Amino acid sequence: MNSQKTIIVGVTGGIAAFKTCSLVSSLTKQGYDVHVIMTKSACEFVTPLTFQTLSKNKVITDMFTVDYTPEVHHISLAKKADLFVIAPATADVIAKVANGICDDMLTTTFLASTCNKLIVPAMNTQMLENPITQDNIARCKQYGMHVLDSGDGRLACGDIGQGRMLEPDEIEDVIKQDLNAESYLKGKRILVTAGPTQEAMDPIRYITNHSSGKMGYALARAARNAGATVTLISGNTHLKPVYGVEMVDVTTAQEMYEEVMKRQEDHDVFIMAAAVADFRPKVVATSKIHKSNSGFQLELERTQDILETLGKNRKPYQTLIGFAMETEDLLVHAKEKLERKNCDFIVANNINEKGAGFKSDTNKVTILSKNTTIELGLLSKEDTAQTILKTCLKG
Ligand code: CTP
Repeated sequence: MNSQKTIIVGVTGGIAAFKTCSLVSSLTKQGYDVHVIMTKSACEFVTPLTFQTLSKNKVITDMFTVDYTPEVHHISLAKKADLFVIAPATADVIAKVANGICDDMLTTTFLASTCNKLIVPAMNTQMLENPITQDNIARCKQYGMHVLDSGDGRLACGDIGQGRMLEPDEIEDVIKQDLNAESYLKGKRILVTAGPTQEAMDPIRYITNHSSGKMGYALARAARNAGATVTLISGNTHLKPVYGVEMVDVTTAQEMYEEVMKRQEDHDVFIMAAAVADFRPKVVATSKIHKSNSGFQLELERTQDILETLGKNRKPYQTLIGFAMETEDLLVHAKEKLERKNCDFIVANNINEKGAGFKSDTNKVTILSKNTTIELGLLSKEDTAQTILKTCLKG
């Protein structure tokens, strides 16, 4: 039985609210303590009595008429929740929670909750595809909420496309994952590096690479969601800082090296997803290098290898996860790096794979350890990050 786990289910005004009835019924039957909060318009689709009967708990519909008891007061409910699910989540409620608006019981309790949050969108395709909604969804993700994709098919409005709420059994699956995943990294201190480094030639030019930082940021977010205390040391990217994570901005390989080394003793896990320059200009010109008609030669020198240094000085309690990006012989090179850098795992990334690589939102990686080779399918970088963490760190 799961009576110790409390789930708040927020229901907003969409026809998919009828599907939430079977979700609530199923969770309650399995022993979860389910509390439903409905918006005013949700009550137009399903009656509070339905949810009250299914959840066996008083349904909260309006902050001004609710009977006050300490158990159902929104703050005490927010405090005891293990997960807050909004299903269906309309464009309106997504816009509100993305911006901290709390003008009813649902959004007020949501803002007061510190537990993991799951948003299950359901709306018309055009509303979903509207850049405003997409920005709001991105913002929710940035704040650490788990926003599910919606399904496609025929919608209640007659349109065919994205926006259909996932089925109750699919949502239940994610709820169980989120409830269990919430704390498997609790107490772990994880340091992630991400993005490219930039090595100056002169005050105007630098040498860099195509890394977007997306994979490292996704790892930091996933580690935070799993309960870890996370430090993200990042080269220059266009990404927004990850909420709830200590962000350290660096530019060069040397700065990244120093910031990692400063924290070496304080972390249990190192995930080196950054694309660190292996070489930098030996001399950085103090003024602009002007062209001449003869060729130009730039002398480069080695940077320090952060991962290799960690591997040499590792403590028994530390786990090292490196990355390898290759254009050919992926597994051969990755295996060699695993040994040379004394890592526990290398995540091998084949740049030639369709859908994998720097700028894309998807990735296809193979996780290597001394004795195992686990090949993942083409997944979003968020899902890849979660799978990497589970594979490498879930004991
Ligand atoms: N790395 C690092 N410091 C460096 C270079 C790389 O910490 N100065 C880390 C990367 O973050 C990555 C791993 O080492 O986790 C693999 O980096 P890569 O450059 O692909 O491998 P190299 O060891 O440099 O091997 P090669 O250049 O021969 O491919």
